[in-house]
Amino acid sequence: MRHFTNVNDLGDLKAALDEAFEIKKDRFKYVELGRNKTLLMIFFNSSLRTRLSTQKAAMNLGMNVIVLDVNQGAWKLETERGVIMDGDKTEHLLEAIPVMGCYCDIIGVRSFAQFQNKTDDYNEVIINQFIKYSGRPVFSMEAATRHPLQSFADLITIEEYKKKARPKVVMTWAPHPRALPQAVPNSFAEWMNATDYDFVITHPEGYELDPKFVGNAKVEYDQMKALEGADFVYAKNWSGYAGDNYGRVISKDRAWTVSAAHMAVTNNAYFMHCLPVRRNMIVTDDVIESPQSIVIPEAANREISAQVVLKRILEGLE
Ligand code: CP
Repeated sequence: MRHFTNVNDLGDLKAALDEAFEIKKDRFKYVELGRNKTLLMIFFNSSLRTRLSTQKAAMNLGMNVIVLDVNQGAWKLETERGVIMDGDKTEHLLEAIPVMGCYCDIIGVRSFAQFQNKTDDYNEVIINQFIKYSGRPVFSMEAATRHPLQSFADLITIEEYKKKARPKVVMTWAPHPRALPQAVPNSFAEWMNATDYDFVITHPEGYELDPKFVGNAKVEYDQMKALEGADFVYAKNWSGYAGDNYGRVISKDRAWTVSAAHMAVTNNAYFMHCLPVRRNMIVTDDVIESPQSIVIPEAANREISAQVVLKRILEGLE
């Protein structure tokens, strides 16, 4: 594998899951693979889980790791071509990227949607420039439209906890005070559509996602109806995608906050969220603290998903 930005880069999901469970049994089995190889992790946005789990995965593989927080200590970067750089941005991404490539073997990039230009966001302008100009394999640590390391960890978690071959998985929108990108729900939908699970998406009207990601999922606007018989409830907020609502908060309706009443209509579902989560906006205290909440094992599996991806990229290095 050269680059990793979406589910298709992983190929056969069954093989990837087998590899994940093999690594989970012995995460130091491939410790020699990354000897004298350097991972550079570049963050344009904040992170707790992605930062720690990816660094741990790289260390399990014997790699050296450099972490760069672009907005804290690096020169402020211009990302637009053609701009007269007479403002506060000192360096252009088009020089910075190949320079970064000089110091490492693999690059991980976190760069969220900026909500200034939907076309740029949905064309993944930032991560694609790293792919084009760094000369190194690049993987997404959450880009503008997808968060594949999270979705892979979500899939591993569902496979570990499912009690039937074809569980009902419901992704529900939930309220949040700020405008969040669609990367996590897009990506989760993309990965769920790559399985044969019974996958349902529920959200208030106006929160329709890009049809490319919704795929064949059933969209149900009645949240309670959607949750009936669910085996897994995956809660997430996202801002508007369609038309003038792009990047906007349209609703903060706390009737959509996942509560015990919502979980009561499910098939004793497991509760999932990628974290960080705003309690009593997205989910009530009692649901996230319940025995059915698997948010911590879900987060723990981020180490495993990152390790499978890094292992495959290392194996593909020339
Ligand atoms: N879920 C996730 O990506 O967490 P961080 O934003 O803390 O990395």
